[in-house]
Amino acid sequence: MKILGIESSCDETAAAVVEDGTKILSNIIASQVEIHSRYGGIVPEIASRQHLLSVIPVVEQALSNASVTPDGLSAIAVTNGPGLAGSLLVGVNLAKALALAWDLPLIGINHLEAHIYANWLGEDTPVFPLLALIVSGGHTDLVLMSNHGELLLLGRTRDDAAGEAFDKVARMLELGYPGGPAVERASREGTPRYHLPRAWLKGSDDFSFSGLKTAVVRLAEELGISTMPHPNSVAADIAASFQRSVVDVLVTKTTAAANRHGVKQVLLAGGVAANELLRETVVRRLPTPVLVPDPVLCTDNAAMIASCGYFHLLAGKVAGWDLDVIPGLKLG
Ligand code: KG4
Ligand code: ZN
Repeated sequence: MKILGIESSCDETAAAVVEDGTKILSNIIASQVEIHSRYGGIVPEIASRQHLLSVIPVVEQALSNASVTPDGLSAIAVTNGPGLAGSLLVGVNLAKALALAWDLPLIGINHLEAHIYANWLGEDTPVFPLLALIVSGGHTDLVLMSNHGELLLLGRTRDDAAGEAFDKVARMLELGYPGGPAVERASREGTPRYHLPRAWLKGSDDFSFSGLKTAVVRLAEELGISTMPHPNSVAADIAASFQRSVVDVLVTKTTAAANRHGVKQVLLAGGVAANELLRETVVRRLPTPVLVPDPVLCTDNAAMIASCGYFHLLAGKVAGWDLDVIPGLKLG
């Protein structure tokens, strides 16, 4: 079964065709990074207008690259939350129109659940029960998954998401935009010489990154970063220390939860899972087998939406024409 996936929750307009939830036939992503980089962050109204311009060419390209015509599709899956309302509306509205015109089932997808499904697009098939660590720009969630559609949120961030902390630290240290890859690049030139705090929140699977972010601000002030030319080795050392602290907390808490629940596998998901230090550390430190998606499937894409849509279709989870966007949609 071939599913067309459409994703427009944030600043990537994406469409993909995936066969049987696992085989990518096409995966098109139109990024708005350059447009928003002028503002140092995503401007919601610009994002929705840009989706409006890109979404039809992106879908056409996805169908053409997959050599699929509408009558070869089994369903249309679209992200309906969480995300920016105006951005989500563009994808959902197009998906409804295409489902109506092509007489196909419409499937509403939770973007966070879909991030986990990026792991079904690799060589190894995930095995239940599994633990998924979703680390994105808006979320840091530890999810226990006992089967398709059976998700239990064990922990989440109480303040900043991991990706959000990367983005804020990049801005503070003037490392560039988008923040995650900029901090990672700077860290390669630096040494993690500063000990920054780690919020363990003992007895809980929750996370917290705001104290770490404040510690980075204080350290940068103490060291006089603002008076130094850019790039500089002090900023690189702070970036490396920050990255190490985030990765240490993520991996330590994921290991504890994986051991407690006796899962067969641990999956990484979300934009921060593209981070090399996190990928390498999680594989090295976890006793449980770990799956990590290809970096291009960690950040926002529509292949993960189509894959998740396939498993929803198998379970008969099809949306009606009243499918709405839910900017604050939760997992589970
Ligand atoms: O999953 P995603 O593409 O979008 C959301 O659903 O939020 O995640 C975006 C987040 C951003 O905060 C970005 O800075 C972060 O993922 N990110 C990274 C890396 N690549 C993207 N963080 C750390 N290292 C990276 N290489
Ligand atoms: Zn995402």
